[in-house]
Amino acid sequence: MTSIDAATAAESERLAIHPGWVRITHWINALAMLVMIGSGWEIYNASPLFPFSFPGAITLGGWLAGALLWHFAAMWLLVVNGLVYLTLGLMTGRFRRKLLPIRPGEVIADAKAALTFQLSHDDISVYNAVQRLLYLGVILAGIVIVLSGLSIWKPVQLQELTALFGGYDAARYVHFFAMAAIVGFLVVHVLLALIVPKSLRAMVTGR
Ligand code: HEM
Ligand code: HEM
Repeated sequence: MTSIDAATAAESERLAIHPGWVRITHWINALAMLVMIGSGWEIYNASPLFPFSFPGAITLGGWLAGALLWHFAAMWLLVVNGLVYLTLGLMTGRFRRKLLPIRPGEVIADAKAALTFQLSHDDISVYNAVQRLLYLGVILAGIVIVLSGLSIWKPVQLQELTALFGGYDAARYVHFFAMAAIVGFLVVHVLLALIVPKSLRAMVTGR
């Protein structure tokens, strides 16, 4: 690569709506999350917390031990990838620039506009207030699900962490409800990405 090519590449990366590290970590996270959800549902089925089970066709692992293997394998991918995303998001100022501030008045106004199909998508490089709230919310849910997962995985070694959630049983419920929040986010998130295809293109190609 000549230095002009390199400069052009650097310039185009600077102008990208989503820099390479955001796109790569986003899609690795999407994959890891799908594996964690599918295997989590199979783990749940072995001892349901509520009077329902997840249909076998949408779970991963086949049986409890298989599902636990998937869960603990994808866990590493999720945590390492998540730490890269969080570190870069904080260090580059992306979170501050793109996700803040979140003003309740703007959230209500943008939610109203979205529900009446009047929300502008002209500039997808700026997140509206609803997007900011949902993205920050799902990042926090991601942190909660990892910490609650660790506390039900190693409740003896990590007893302080488990105690923070109110003990093993409570941590299990926290883990479950964080999953429900993430799945709820995912349904809306994927639907909106399909309704505004250029946002999907930007998350793939960067622009
Ligand atoms: C570091 C990350 C994680 C760790 C260490 C972890 C660990 C665990 C462990 C040990 C269990 C078994 C609990 C039991 O025996 O009842 C479990 C269950 C489960 N996990 Fe995770 N998990 C992690 C992330 C996730 C993620 C990202 C999701 C989904 C978004 C998820 C969804 C579930 C579900 C649905 C269950 C079954 C809930 C239950 O019935 O208790 N987990 N997890
Ligand atoms: C598998 C299907 C998925 C698709 C098709 C998808 C699509 C997208 C698209 C198109 C964007 C940019 C949208 C915009 O301009 O607002 C985006 C951003 C984002 N997505 Fe996803 N996504 C998926 C899964 C996930 C999952 C599982 C999570 C987390 C649990 C997630 C969290 C996020 C976050 C936090 C952002 C903002 C990232 C940033 O700007 O730093 N996505 N996604």
